[in-house]
Amino acid sequence: MTSEPHDDFDTVLVVDFGAQYAQLIARRVREAHVYSEIVPHTITADEIRARRPVGVIFSGGPKSVHVEGAPVIDPAVYDAGVPVLGICYGAQLVAQQLGGEVARTGRGEYGRTEMAVGEGSRLLEDLPASQPVWMSHFDSIVRPPDGFRAVASTPDAPVAVLESDERRIYGVQFHPEVAHTPRGQDVLKRFLYDVCGARPTWTMTSIIETSVEAVREQVGSGRVICALSGGVDSAVAAALVHKAVGPQLTCVYVDTGLMREGESEQVVDTFHRHHGIELQHVRAADRFFERLSGVVDPEEKRKAIGELFIRIFEEAAGGLEDARYLVQGTLYPDVIESGTRDAARIKSHHNVGGLPEDMDFELVEPLRNLFKDEVRRVGEELGLPEEIVWRQPFPGPGLAVRVVGEVTPDKVATLRQADHIVREEIRRAGLERDVWQAFAVLLADVRSVGVMGDERTYGHPIVLRAVTSDDAMTADWARLPYEVLERLASRIINEVPGVNRVAYDITSKPPGTIEWE
Ligand code: XMP
Repeated sequence: MTSEPHDDFDTVLVVDFGAQYAQLIARRVREAHVYSEIVPHTITADEIRARRPVGVIFSGGPKSVHVEGAPVIDPAVYDAGVPVLGICYGAQLVAQQLGGEVARTGRGEYGRTEMAVGEGSRLLEDLPASQPVWMSHFDSIVRPPDGFRAVASTPDAPVAVLESDERRIYGVQFHPEVAHTPRGQDVLKRFLYDVCGARPTWTMTSIIETSVEAVREQVGSGRVICALSGGVDSAVAAALVHKAVGPQLTCVYVDTGLMREGESEQVVDTFHRHHGIELQHVRAADRFFERLSGVVDPEEKRKAIGELFIRIFEEAAGGLEDARYLVQGTLYPDVIESGTRDAARIKSHHNVGGLPEDMDFELVEPLRNLFKDEVRRVGEELGLPEEIVWRQPFPGPGLAVRVVGEVTPDKVATLRQADHIVREEIRRAGLERDVWQAFAVLLADVRSVGVMGDERTYGHPIVLRAVTSDDAMTADWARLPYEVLERLASRIINEVPGVNRVAYDITSKPPGTIEWE
C-alpha cells in the first residue's frame, strides 16, 4: 500500500471496518474524480495526518458496536482537523465514540426504505423531502452526540443522518455507495466537494500522465521487459509503460499453444503492428505439448506449464541482458488483499505459475493504484482494442485446465473450436459484459453414445460453463436464455467434430470452482 502522501491528487482515506463495501466506497469516490485509498481501522490519527487526506470515510462493517472486540478507531481522529463521514457501522461508531447512543432496538432494517429528510441538512441539501435509501443494519442510533443534529429518519432509524458542521463530522445510516440508493452518489459528492473541498482531478488523463511520469522517473534510461499474456492487466500495463519509455520496452509473448482462437494473432497485431511495441513472439506450443504428454492431474498440469513458461521466459530475457526492470500488472485489489506495506511481490496466480523469484529485476507496477474498471478505461484511452480491454478473465495455464484428461494438440483444437463458438454466441446475444466468464470444457476421458443422421456416434461431451460474479471469489451459474443455450449446443455438435453431447454446468462457487481444474 502506498503510505506516502499522494502529491498529485487530493486523497480521501476509506477506513475499512470489515465490510466488503470498503472497496465499493473507494471506487465511488474515484468515480467522483477524487483519489481514494483503503486503510485499516487500526490506523492512528498521526498516521492519518501524515497522509494529508482531505477527508476520511468510515466504511460499514458486519459487527455490532456493542459486541466485545468490535473494531473502533483512534478517537483522536475526530480532532485531526480532517472531515469525517461514517457510513452504516461507521456512523454508529461516530455516534457511540462521541457520546451519542446506539441502541439494540430489536428491529433491524434491511433493503429499500423511505427516508424523511429534515430542513437545513448540509449533506442532503438538494434532496427531496422523501428519498428511497438502502439500509442494512440491526442496531440504530437513537440519540446523536452533543453538538450533532439528526437531519433525517426512517421508520426504524430515528437518526438516519447526523451532522456537525462545526466539527465537520457526518454519519449516514444508509449505504450511499450502492446503486439501490439512487441519490447516494450525490450525497458522497456533497461530502467530497463541499465539506472536504476536494478537487475532482482524478481523471483518465491525469491518471495516465501521473503514471507515465512515475514510470519515467523509476526506470530512467533503463531497459524494461514485460511478459504479455493477452489478458487485460498485462496489456494495459505494457501500453502505459510503452507510452512512458517507448523503445526501452520489450514485450515477450510466449505462445503456449493453449491460447484461445485468434488470441496470439491479436496480441502480435495490437502490440507490434499497431502500437509499434517491440515484441518477441516465442512459439513454444510443441514444447508445451511434449511436456504435457501423459499428464492428467490438474495440479501437475499447472505446475508443468508454470515451470516451462518460466524457463522459456528466462531464455527470452537472457537475450536482453541489460534489462533491469520487469513490468507487472498488479492491481489495487491485489495490493489491498496482500495486506502488507511491503514492496511489491510477484504474484503467482495471475501469471502462468508466477515469474521466477530469483530473477534480478526491479518491478514496475503502473496499475498498482487502480481498480479493474479504471484499468479498462485507461486501456480504452490508450487505444487498445475493445476485445482486449473487455476480455473476460482467462486462466494463465490456458485451455489446458479446460481439457479434463490428457492435453493433446487434437483435444486442444477441439476445445478451441467449441470455445470460439461460445464466445461468438455470447457476444451475439449481447451477454458478454453480463456474465463474468462463459467458456467450454472438454471431457477428454468421457465418451457417450449418440446418433447423427443414421450413424451411431461415440464422442466426447462439451460442458458449458457460464457464471456471474463480482470478483471470482464467489460465483453463481448464469441463467442464460434457453434460446442461447440451444444455439450453443446445436452449433457445437454440428460444427465441432468428435463432440456429440453438450451439458450445462449449474454449480455455484462455492462449492464448485469456476474452472474445472
Ligand atoms: P476458480 O476456478 O479458482 O477461478 O474459481 C477463479 C478465477 O481465476 C481464474 N483462474 C486463473 N487465473 N491463472 C490465472 O491468471 C490461473 O492459474 C488461474 N486459475 C483460475 C479463473 O478463470 C476465474 O476467473
